[in-house]
Amino acid sequence: MSSKNDSGNISGMPPPQHIAIIMDGNGRWAKSKHLPRSRGHQKGVQTVRKVVKHCAKLGVSSLTLFAFSSENMKRSSEEVGLLFKLFLSVLKTETKKLKENNIRLKIIGDLSAFTPEIISLANEAEASLQKNTGLTLVIAANYGGQWDITESAKKIAIDVSKGLIAPDNINTDLFGRYTSLSELPSVDLLIRTSGEVRLSNFLLWDIAYSEFYFCKTLWPDFNEKSLDEAIKNFHSRERRFGERNGE
Ligand code: IPE
Ligand code: IPE
Ligand code: MG
Repeated sequence: MSSKNDSGNISGMPPPQHIAIIMDGNGRWAKSKHLPRSRGHQKGVQTVRKVVKHCAKLGVSSLTLFAFSSENMKRSSEEVGLLFKLFLSVLKTETKKLKENNIRLKIIGDLSAFTPEIISLANEAEASLQKNTGLTLVIAANYGGQWDITESAKKIAIDVSKGLIAPDNINTDLFGRYTSLSELPSVDLLIRTSGEVRLSNFLLWDIAYSEFYFCKTLWPDFNEKSLDEAIKNFHSRERRFGERNGE
């Protein structure tokens, strides 16, 4: 059981600054209940609401959620259409609530695949929440870690060709400034639900020193307590970043 102090922090320790989650298992959740996959995705949105609220309460500074991978485009047109529709309706209904809760929004990924309506709503939502100072919620949609790194390389190549940077000055610090999550702290804790133990092309650059936490819970069943467990487990890790502590 997790113990919380008055501020909501687990075991009295500050929460990880940046949590990233691969929200997996919607389809299997629906299947186990003899429901269509769409119901799993809908229930998954309810879990997103719970987790966002809980992270804000705990004082997590950034939460990055993998909503839709570049590879998910290969699913049936029916499922892709449904996921697009769900994304659109969430943008329409949730922006006001995010504003009330002082949450900033950032959407990362190749948005060009989405409909003009989704693109403009996404841009409007980001702009209207820009001045908020609480949790930064990042939604990765049509996102791939390899895409992110390739895009960064492309932008750097353009700046080199314009004479804005010299090839000799390209280092990890500079490269990181061109990635999608450049303004955010690096990911402290990466969670994947549903028992799969792989990255599925989620963040690659930003997880160089993340702690990984895999749990069997299917995303629609994940809740505040599941997140507390993940954070408690995170706190039990010794992060060394290549150094040899205590010697
Ligand atoms: C995760 O659930 C949501 C998306 C990938 C959009 P899945 O749809 O992958 O569910 P499973 O893995 O089939 O159970
Ligand atoms: C990864 O889950 C993408 C999201 C959770 C959005 P998938 O279900 O698409 O991953 P694979 O296909 O099992 O690797
Ligand atoms: Mg899956």
